[in-house]
Amino acid sequence: MKRATEFDANFMQEANRLKRLPPYLFAVIDQLIKQQTAAGKDVIDLSMGSPDLPPPPNVVAALAEGVKRADMHGYSRADGEVERNLRKAIADWYHRKFNVELCPNTEVLPLIGSKEGLAHLSLGFLNNDDIALVPSPTYPIHFNGVIMAGGILYQLPLLAENKFLPVVDKLDPHVIRQSKLMILSYPHNPTAATCDIGFMQEMVDWCKRHHIILAHDFAYSDFVYDGHKAPSVFNAKGAKDVAIEFHSFSKSYSMAGWRLAFAVGNASILKTLNKTKSYIDFGIFRAVQLAGIEALNGPQDSVKHAAETYHKRMKLFVEGMNSIGWETPMPGATFYIWAHIPMKYSGLSSLEFSQLMIEEAGVACAPGTGFGEYGEGYVRFAMVQGEERLKQAIKRIGQMLSVG
Ligand SMILES: Cc1ncc(COP(=O)(O)O)c(C=O)c1O
Repeated sequence: MKRATEFDANFMQEANRLKRLPPYLFAVIDQLIKQQTAAGKDVIDLSMGSPDLPPPPNVVAALAEGVKRADMHGYSRADGEVERNLRKAIADWYHRKFNVELCPNTEVLPLIGSKEGLAHLSLGFLNNDDIALVPSPTYPIHFNGVIMAGGILYQLPLLAENKFLPVVDKLDPHVIRQSKLMILSYPHNPTAATCDIGFMQEMVDWCKRHHIILAHDFAYSDFVYDGHKAPSVFNAKGAKDVAIEFHSFSKSYSMAGWRLAFAVGNASILKTLNKTKSYIDFGIFRAVQLAGIEALNGPQDSVKHAAETYHKRMKLFVEGMNSIGWETPMPGATFYIWAHIPMKYSGLSSLEFSQLMIEEAGVACAPGTGFGEYGEGYVRFAMVQGEERLKQAIKRIGQMLSVG
């Protein structure tokens, strides 16, 4: 609280909700990369999951056409033609891909990125005595959104021995009773784990039994390999009673900077999410929506190409890691390699080890604790550089490991 009559030297200090957030470790890594680059050193940056591949040319062309149209520049309105067409394209795409029927008007909600949607989901639903069950490690907005919304964060450890799936059987009944929201995300960032439909069904049934909203973040649905197909939460029976699912154009169509995504599923959850957003944003630039329609309705070969490219890079990198003595299993999904910190560095935290890698090898990765406390002991490499740079990275890491 601030009283107007008193002089408060800290009148610009941030709100408690920001103070409660854990330090943003990616900013620390970014700063170190900048310092090293400014000192003339070359750093191979595998820290962020921002795709390096170009968006499909037909999608770029649709955006360019849209920008030239006079009717694209006003505020977006839910009942506008472009908006209706985007929601229909999303529902059609869902049906083609997952054989799931969605009502374009009530069960589809376009977003300015899934990060935005996930943050506003917590804001729209969590009171300060509501628990959100959130995996650890996980994509940071899953927990930061809960903290910023003032809800109670309850971490579900994702452990290698459980194939990075949460175990809910032994949760304290008091915690379950107070829980309002659970977040899941498979294929998983950062561990690259996948789940099958059996697990998804169990989670849907469990959430239904305990009256918990299930939010499934499905950003990597297109990046699964070796014949595996990632299930949508709506392939589980009864999921629409409790669940929504988030999709992003950022990864599948390499449109990370365009800010376009969507949530689908339970109409009542989406209504509240939409209400929350309506107080805060004005929707998506219509030309970007046009491009999104083109991405979903147009040829999908660029998605296949992106998946093949990342998979090839992952194989190259994992083989390279194993050849230099850093034992790393080949993941079956995403474009991330989740690697245990080598034994001889086990005295270092994942942040310290990541800093050392930048300084000594000129290779940047993401420290595991950036994804939550159960990420400690690991680092994540994003395959967002070409093969030559990846080979160079392996060589440099090899040199670092071989020295003392
Ligand atoms: C699991 C997951 N969800 C969401 C996002 C962000 O997606 P968007 O660009 O749509 O906000 C990412 C980005 O890395 C992610 O890994």
